[in-house]
This record gives sequence, structure tokens and C-alpha cells, in this order.
Amino acid sequence: MTQTKKSIHGEWSSRLAFILAATGSAVGLGNIWKFPYIAGENGGGAFVIVYLLCILLIGLPIMIAETLIGRRGRQSPINTMSDLADEANADPKWHYVGWLGVISGFLILSYYSVVAGWGIAYVFKAFLGGFSGADGTTIKDTFSSLMSSPLQQIFWHSIFMLVTMLVVSRGVAGGLEKAVRFLMPGLFVILMLLVAYAMTTGSYQQGINFLFNPDFSKITGQAVLTAMGHAFFTLSLGIGAIMVYGSYLPNSISITRTSILIAGADTAVALLAGIAIFPIVFANNLEVAAGPGLIFQTLPIAFGNMTGGWLFGILFFVLLVFAALSSSISLIEPAVAWLVENKEIDRKKACVWAGLATWVVGLGTVFSFNVWSDFKIFDRTIFDLLDYLTANLLLPIGGFCVAVFAGWIMKPDDSEHELRSSKPIHYQIWRFLVRYVSPAAVFLVFLNVVGVL
Ligand code: TRP
Repeated sequence: MTQTKKSIHGEWSSRLAFILAATGSAVGLGNIWKFPYIAGENGGGAFVIVYLLCILLIGLPIMIAETLIGRRGRQSPINTMSDLADEANADPKWHYVGWLGVISGFLILSYYSVVAGWGIAYVFKAFLGGFSGADGTTIKDTFSSLMSSPLQQIFWHSIFMLVTMLVVSRGVAGGLEKAVRFLMPGLFVILMLLVAYAMTTGSYQQGINFLFNPDFSKITGQAVLTAMGHAFFTLSLGIGAIMVYGSYLPNSISITRTSILIAGADTAVALLAGIAIFPIVFANNLEVAAGPGLIFQTLPIAFGNMTGGWLFGILFFVLLVFAALSSSISLIEPAVAWLVENKEIDRKKACVWAGLATWVVGLGTVFSFNVWSDFKIFDRTIFDLLDYLTANLLLPIGGFCVAVFAGWIMKPDDSEHELRSSKPIHYQIWRFLVRYVSPAAVFLVFLNVVGVL
């Protein structure tokens, strides 16, 4: 019924354009900032294995599901979900999944922007030679002084939000495609350089052991939940972001192949970041469980002590900020697309409102690191709470609903039609995973955490 529909927001110019945009969305702070620090906090190896399993058995099938739902519906997630529920003669309440996504994306962006702001601050610190010859203690102090200043953080957070909303207000396709084209290879090259530096620290093997030698006694229910939540976070799943991107995808493209490519690239970047960071941690007697400051307290040491480090330091943080930008766009796009479709306001106004609201909530994260650091709800600061609520709860719930919808509610003929350019066996495997494995895994992890299992 809907197979010839096109999106009112435009369409990607090619398969590559979609791959670039979706990879741009997936690869971001999640890979370079978050993955290493949560791997550090959760004991390394065993956590990494659980994370990889989650990508394969939960993330990938749900990514395929989101893309195909998006392409079939061709609108913002909220309207897509209600149309497809209609098409499947299902309850219109399914569109609440779209709502959930809009809210989660908005909450994630509020703290994502603050961390991206730290990244901008570090571009300038690198430029001013702040890392040159520095040791672990100096670099730690640099980070602490940024954390203790609400004004500086608000300044950088504001700049990042402003740029994000400027890009989103012009429509997602054009500029983004071009930016990601040089961004991904650039990031890859600098990460390789950092890995090369890590090899010279004398603690390379120790870093690798930490990251890849599993010690399953370190795995708790919470760690499994964090690994699963991060699989959603890093692949940009559970809020309809990939659904929106899928809605601009031409009908001729194989969704399974592109999803495998994107998930593969995303995982490679995260692992490389970990391989670069942990040897530096051990070589300088730093704390593996340093938390959200981990990359800011380790990588500058590398830049401060390697040849060409001044230039590479600047380049690295510039690329990090761009990677964050190509992700942040997809966090707010579901909300903006919905405002444009339903509130009949133009894209610019939608951006101003969505941006302002996100900026205000972001202040809570800024204050979590200084004036409100003692203010705790459920034993967590505002930042910790936002992170936990979104990554560990809202994203898995959103993803669970997407899996159930694609596997059980959509007519098999319809989902098969969207995956028609994949091999029949791939369709069968996907359908099995998305019907049984992914939803059951999410469910079991939740049960385990609440103590039922
Ligand atoms: N995947 C991005 C990262 O790893 C963050 C992100 C972008 C995201 N869009 C999303 C997370 C949608 C969840 C949902 O940095």
C-alpha cells in the first residue's frame, strides 16, 4: 500500500548518502567518550564481550527493524507508527512509541551537548598548547578546572546547541553528507595514530588485556544492563532516529547490508578508542574507573608527548566535535520532524523551540559537576540520572517496542517486501532474531536488574 510513498522532507541522493548519515549518527561521543569510560567502570573484558553480543543479537536486528519501519512509513516516527499500525489493523496506541522516542532524544541531547561542549573547550586548549609535555596530574587538573566552572561549561554548551540547531534548521541531508565524508576517515586515521602512540607507552599489553581478557566474575546485572543500554545508545536506536533516516531512504537499497556495515564501522571506532586509551591509563597510573572525564584525562597526555601532538590534538578534538554534531542532529530530528508535520510551524521555528528547551535542561547536567554535585535523586546526580534513565531504560523500552512491532504486528508480507533486496535466508534470520531473541533478551536483562531473576 505505501511502498511508493516518498517523504515530504526529501530523500537521500544515494545509498552512500544514507550510509554516511546513519554512520554519522551512530559514531559519536558514545564511541569515543562513553564506551571507554563505561568499559573502565565495569571491569573491561567481560563487559566488552557482553556489549558485542548485545550489538549482534539485539542492536543489529532492531536497527534493521527501525530502518524498514521508517522507509515504509516515510514520516516522523510518531506519524509513521500510527500509519503502520493502521496498515496492520493494530491498535493506534503504537504511536506512543514515537512519542517516547521524541522525549528520549530530547533528554539525551541535553547532556550530549554539554559533553560536546567540553570537546570544543579542548579544541582551544589544544590550540593554546595546553597539553605540551604535560603529565597525568596537570591534565587531570585541567579537566577538574573546567568541571568546576559552570560559566565556561554553559558557554561551550550554548555554542554546541546553537550550531546543532543551525544545521538542523537547514534540513538534514545536504551539509551533513559532505561533512561525514571526510569526518569518518579523518577520525579513523587519528585513532590509528593514537593506537600507535599507545604501543610506545610500555603498557600496551596491559591495556589490551584489560579490554579483551574477560573476567566474568566482574559482571553484575547492572553491568549487563549498561552494556545493553550502550548497544542501543551507540547505534542510535530506540528513539526513532534511524527510523527518520530510513524514511529518507530510496526503495531500491538493501537494508540488511547497510545496517551490517554501519554497525561494523561503529563497533570498530569504539574498540579503537578503547585500545588507544587504556594503555595510557596504565602507563600513567590513572584510574580505569575515572568516569566521564576518562578521555579528557588520558588522550591529552598522548598529544602532549608525541611528535606532531599539537596538530593532532587540535585535529582530534575538532573531529570529535564534528562526530558529536552529526549525532546530535539525529537526536533532535524526530522532534523537529514531528513539529513540522503536526504543528504547522516552519522548520526554523521548530528548531528554535526544540533547541531552547534542550539548552535549559542541559543546565542541569552542567550543574551536576559543580554547584549541584551534592544534589542527588535516587543517589544520582542529574547527569547520572539522565544518562541512566535514557540509555538503560528508555532506549531499551523503545527498542523492545520496535522489535515487537516489526516482528509480531507488521504483516510478514510487508516487512518481507521492505527487505526484498536481501537474501531470503537473511530475512529469515532477521525475523527470528527480532521476534524472539531481541525482545526476550531485553526483557530478561530488565527482570534480572529488578531482582526477579
Ligand atoms: N549514537 C550516538 C553516539 O554514539 C548518539 C546518538 C545519536 C543516539 N542519535 C541517537 C543515541 C539516537 C540514541 C538514540 O554518540
